[in-house]
Amino acid sequence: MSADTHQPALPPGPATPFTPDTNEATFAAIPRWLGEYGDVVRLPSEGRRHDSYLLNDADAIRHVLVKNHANYRKGPGFNRVKMLLGNGIIVSDGPFWRRQRRMIQPAFGRKVLARLLRFVEQANAARRERWQDAAAGGAILDITAEAADLSLEVILRTLFGEDFDRLVDRQGGNPFAFLTEDLTRDMQVVLRFRGLMKLMQELIHWRRETRPERDDFLALFLAARDRDTGEAMSDKELIDELMTFIIAGHETSAITLNWCWYFLARHPEWATRAREEIEDVTGGAMPAPEQLARFETVRRVMNEALRLYPPVWLFSRTALDDDRIGDYAIPAGTDLFISPYYLHRHPAHWPDAERFDPDRFAPEREKARHPTAFIPFSAGPRRCIGDHFALLEMQIHFGCMLPAFRLEYLDEQPLALEPFINLRTRHHLRYRIARH
Ligand code: HEM
Repeated sequence: MSADTHQPALPPGPATPFTPDTNEATFAAIPRWLGEYGDVVRLPSEGRRHDSYLLNDADAIRHVLVKNHANYRKGPGFNRVKMLLGNGIIVSDGPFWRRQRRMIQPAFGRKVLARLLRFVEQANAARRERWQDAAAGGAILDITAEAADLSLEVILRTLFGEDFDRLVDRQGGNPFAFLTEDLTRDMQVVLRFRGLMKLMQELIHWRRETRPERDDFLALFLAARDRDTGEAMSDKELIDELMTFIIAGHETSAITLNWCWYFLARHPEWATRAREEIEDVTGGAMPAPEQLARFETVRRVMNEALRLYPPVWLFSRTALDDDRIGDYAIPAGTDLFISPYYLHRHPAHWPDAERFDPDRFAPEREKARHPTAFIPFSAGPRRCIGDHFALLEMQIHFGCMLPAFRLEYLDEQPLALEPFINLRTRHHLRYRIARH
């Protein structure tokens, strides 16, 4: 970063060894370290050769994720999901990652997404009918469970298109549904995963052999070719990517939906503002893809929810070669941890950080902000490939539900957080649902 030539030093930090991980101990310790040592903290390793650094400085984060990204690979923390994701693009690195990302990226182009949004609409339209029945009966809705179920359905329909319903019919239920439950690593879960891989293998074979006319993510992945060799993805590569999209794309979106509903219920002025805007645009009909960009309030609410409670609250990189950040040395092998949750509360970028204020994301205020002060989707080449899809998914959901329903939050117990791989609410959030 800085061009000065004096010898870089090691950053300050506690003397006691600590290995950061996606757990409560790390979540609780980070604010103490930041308060004591500043925005770059060194954590001595427990029996390992290399220390870990915690980065909470937007410039330092930009250096690692964007400017000098080539010197970093994915760090620790994916071990728990590696068994499921094989070498899918969220865990792979180097030339293989680049090849896969290039082959997959076109599926996330705006025009393609606009077509695939019909699956998101379909899932929301069916759910709206169920919510209408619930509202008529004065029911109480568990939005945390609804959001998990909906987000899973959305990603599965967009991946498998019409074949999703066939899979559900043949299996007598959604074979992926257990993914929304707490996953322990017992044998039963391992067997269930094997079962899913087998199902996907069969679907891939069937698609390759019968070549049905399909327009979904799987069809696009099957048609993708390596631009250097002209090769398609192998079955194993396809399965790894499908599993990656299911795992990376459902709980993150579900958590965001969960928070958006919470904030809309707690701040009814924002629910009214979003609803009126949606009604102005759609006249109460199902939103069309070209209308979504005008749901500006939903965009601001979603960003503010992602600022306060970013589902991916901690992620990491490992330095390949020696590097430096300002005055600090980063020896090769150092693990660097970045926490969007704490960065999104940094007083330099976010005054009165605990306050819910979606207008922080008014375009003129966004432009004035540091480019990596807000990183719920990470930044640089490894930025989330599904970021735009996630926004569209929320806009369709609220475009469909907000004009129809009002949700009244019922639980008064203080909200507890569960900082595991993703940052979730410890308890499910429940609401009384009524029609507008
Ligand atoms: C609000 C919802 C979402 C959030 C907060 C989120 C967050 C993230 C973050 C932080 C990363 C980067 C992790 C790192 O740098 O180590 C990431 C990567 C990724 N996400 Fe998302 N994500 C969301 C939705 C989705 C969706 C809907 C999909 C799929 C349709 C998806 C697919 C992926 C994939 C494939 C990667 C790996 C990209 C790569 O390394 O090339 N995500 N996501």
